[in-house]
Amino acid sequence: MMNFEWNTAMSATTVRTCSLKTEQSVWLNEFSDGWEHPFLIIDSEVRRLWDNLLQPAIMSASGLYIMEAREVLKNTFTLSRIWDSMSAAGIHRDTPVVVIGGGLVCDIGAMAASTYLRGLRLMLVPTTLLCMVDACLGGKTGVNLASAKNQVGTFNPAEKILIAPDFLDTLPNREFKSGIAEILKTALIGDRSILELLERMDIENPDKNSILKIILKCLEVKGGIVTEDLRETGKRMLLNLGHTIGHALESASEFRLSHGEAVGLGLLGEAAIAVNRGGNRDLPGEIRGMLKQAGLPTGVNDMVSGEKLSRLFKRDKKTRRNGRIWVLPFDWCDCRLTYLTPDQEEKALPFVMSLLRV
Ligand SMILES: NC(=O)c1ccc[n+]([C@@H]2O[C@H](COP(=O)([O-])OP(=O)(O)OC[C@H]3O[C@@H](n4cnc5c(N)ncnc54)[C@H](O)[C@@H]3O)[C@@H](O)[C@H]2O)c1
Repeated sequence: MMNFEWNTAMSATTVRTCSLKTEQSVWLNEFSDGWEHPFLIIDSEVRRLWDNLLQPAIMSASGLYIMEAREVLKNTFTLSRIWDSMSAAGIHRDTPVVVIGGGLVCDIGAMAASTYLRGLRLMLVPTTLLCMVDACLGGKTGVNLASAKNQVGTFNPAEKILIAPDFLDTLPNREFKSGIAEILKTALIGDRSILELLERMDIENPDKNSILKIILKCLEVKGGIVTEDLRETGKRMLLNLGHTIGHALESASEFRLSHGEAVGLGLLGEAAIAVNRGGNRDLPGEIRGMLKQAGLPTGVNDMVSGEKLSRLFKRDKKTRRNGRIWVLPFDWCDCRLTYLTPDQEEKALPFVMSLLRV
């Protein structure tokens, strides 16, 4: 078991790691000292696969909301159902909320916790690689609108995060690989040594020690950034690397691409734009090679048109009156916030599309 803490002006987050095999009691200890009888929000698949582990927590919970992790359900309607369920359970301002699931359930569950009764204490228990390396930390909560992803949300860092890599034992391979895309993103932003750890890990048969090292390195990079800039007024925007193109691709593919797959392609496309502006010419090739090695898609075929992408970019949250702030990877650990006018974007788009069609 290891403990880490990140403090922002708004809050402190404690991250603990545990093994579900040798430290079952540690997991249950989380539900003491003010965390007894929480309101639980659990991913339905995790509930099904980890029934024995979850049963004691469920038995002592104040209330329970089980949700299917589908992007089409990550919306205000589901959020309102969670609030209704909290209300029906009669929870109070001192009832903590514990969310157990991947990034999707954590995003909406954390949003319910940050808004019901104007905010309840929150613990996140991430169960996907993507959520362990990225989504669980930093306090972004959110739901999608029909028109765009994560368009409504709050900043609400969890007070506690419990990382138990054993949950990955049941994670489908495709979802595991999605997590690798966010790991590549983190390596590009702030720590190339993560790549070495990744290269040493057998992606098809990963061992827990290697995964845990990578998770903690990624959280260190993200933790450092969100500690400085929780509300994304500056440096935190770097964490959106791959996401301007990624979110647009995810929506344009009607979620046939997973979040991680779309972000991986976003890294590639954004590196191509950086090359046009003087970035490292080898970088797109290096990223493509790594996506391939991880078994992630390196192109979109005819799934998405340039026009559709261009329309979706316009709804990106980084859009300002006369253009948009992009995060462009000029090189490893040299990602820059770059303002592109609509004209400059129009010129970049065909280049991105030709790269993604390969
Ligand atoms: N808040 C943030 O900072 C942040 C960062 C990145 C992504 N996100 C959000 O995270 C979401 C993507 O999250 P994700 O990649 O974790 O996927 P997910 O939460 O959509 O889960 C993917 C699939 O894995 C299943 N699953 C989860 N844990 C499992 C387990 N242990 N065993 C078996 N199946 C399991 C789920 O039921 C689902 O079918 C997107 O909505 C994205 O917007 C948020």
